[in-house]
Amino acid sequence: MKVLGIESTCDETSASIVIDGKEVLCNVIATQIKDHAPWAGVVPEIASRLHLVKIVPVIEEALKQAQLSLSDIDLVAASNRPGLIGGLMIGVSAAKSIAFTQGKPYIGINHIEAHLYSPHLTCDIPFPYIGVLTSGGHTMFVIAKSYTEYEVIGTTIDDAVGEAFDKIAKHYGVGYPGGPIIEKLALTGDEKAFDFPIANLYKNDREFDVSYSGIKTAVINHLDKYKKAESYTINDIAASFQRRAFDILYKKVKLAVEKFDIHTVVVAGGVSANKYLRKSFDRLSALNCKVFFPELKYATDNGAMVAGYAYHKYSIDGADSLDSGVSPRVGGFKISLMPDYKRK
Ligand code: KG4
Ligand code: ZN
Repeated sequence: MKVLGIESTCDETSASIVIDGKEVLCNVIATQIKDHAPWAGVVPEIASRLHLVKIVPVIEEALKQAQLSLSDIDLVAASNRPGLIGGLMIGVSAAKSIAFTQGKPYIGINHIEAHLYSPHLTCDIPFPYIGVLTSGGHTMFVIAKSYTEYEVIGTTIDDAVGEAFDKIAKHYGVGYPGGPIIEKLALTGDEKAFDFPIANLYKNDREFDVSYSGIKTAVINHLDKYKKAESYTINDIAASFQRRAFDILYKKVKLAVEKFDIHTVVVAGGVSANKYLRKSFDRLSALNCKVFFPELKYATDNGAMVAGYAYHKYSIDGADSLDSGVSPRVGGFKISLMPDYKRK
């Protein structure tokens, strides 16, 4: 089945055609990074306007690269939540228009589920697994039982991990988006120059929740309180923050592996492009864990993860109505009670 996947939740307009959830024929991405850089963050109105300009050329380019025409497409998918409402409406309207005019089914896709699918594009991953979603808007821990069934076991209670990278980079004026810039600065920094704090959150039933607001505030406002050396550079700040930011994720994943006795871990979302994060999760091999990451080109927002996931979602849940909407919020997770994986 040839699926056209459209992604427009934030600052990337992307279209991809994927066969049967695995074979990526094309993955065209028009990024708006340069357009938002002067504001060191995404300006929703600018994003909407650029999606409108780019959506048709991006779809046309995808068809050209795949050497297909619209009538060859079997299913049209678009991210319909969560995201910036203007971008969502543009991507979803384009998808529905194609579905309607071609007489093909349409399906709306949860962007977070699509991210979690991204490592499946290139790896065969057994269920169940512990999924870690690390993006600019969300940080979430789930137990995935199948492609469409998840139990959300923890989330951030404030900032997302990528958001902390972006806000710290903005504060120090080093550029946008913060994640890749901090990763680069950290390469030549001393990661022990500061001992930034990790918030110790709710024990008991909220033990998988995390917080990034405290560490962000420490890095921005309380450097002196946490410094270990007399002098320091921006590289040292970046390296020390990055180490701690990923310690937060690692601790929760380790806890989940031990509690649920699940030894497959999937890390996805824009932040999963970080090579230091990938390396630091090697420690999980000591717990007999296999860790999967998306290929770098599928880590940040892209249409391939939407098209790939849509293939499975459609085969399980069928198509969506052309009347179905978009939402800036997550929603839509099919939460199962999953008695087998209840906390020990
Ligand atoms: O998944 P994504 O492309 O968009 C959202 O769904 O939010 O993630 C974007 C986020 C941004 O916060 C960006 O700074 C972060 O991913 N990011 C990184 C890296 N590349 C992108 N964070 C850390 N290291 C990276 N190499
Ligand atoms: Zn994303």
